[in-house]
Amino acid sequence: MKPTNRLLGGRTRGFWIWRVVAGALAALATLIGSQHMLASQPAALRAEALGRAEALYAKNCQVCHGARMEGAPYGGANAPPPLVKPGFQVFFWLLPSAMEGWVGEQIANGGNGMPPFTSLISGPDRAALAELIHVRN
Ligand code: HEC
Repeated sequence: MKPTNRLLGGRTRGFWIWRVVAGALAALATLIGSQHMLASQPAALRAEALGRAEALYAKNCQVCHGARMEGAPYGGANAPPPLVKPGFQVFFWLLPSAMEGWVGEQIANGGNGMPPFTSLISGPDRAALAELIHVRN
């Protein structure tokens, strides 16, 4: 039997919050800084990266997470979750760089029904996708 997480509705999937908090502490410890990753880039570069991320999202992610990041239309234990939601909004606002870092890792590693994208999507493009998810929240 898997351990459950009562605070978050008895689902182990809710652990993303704690992983983000752990990421935030790590980020603080290494003084990565409080700015999110692409925000420090010139506007044109950032717009270009976001445009690339839109295309990557449509090609690789939309099939599971929906065109508007609304999540899968079906329920169930391994249904792809929405990527725009209050929990993400709060954490992108509070801990932008940790949250983007965590989303980038989720894209790289996948898990629980999500494929890993390390070999398909480069590091900078994974960061751009994390930024896109940030912008949508
Ligand atoms: C085959 C379906 C599938 C594809 C394709 C897919 N995902 Fe996922 N994704 C999932 C599932 C299922 C989860 C839930 C994983 C879990 O609970 O650990 C998930 C979780 C996530 C999460 C964490 C959400 C949360 O609330 O914890 C993010 C962020 C995410 N995916 C982004 C992406 C991005 C960006 C892409 C495209 C590069 C992508 N996914 C492609 C199925 C998919």
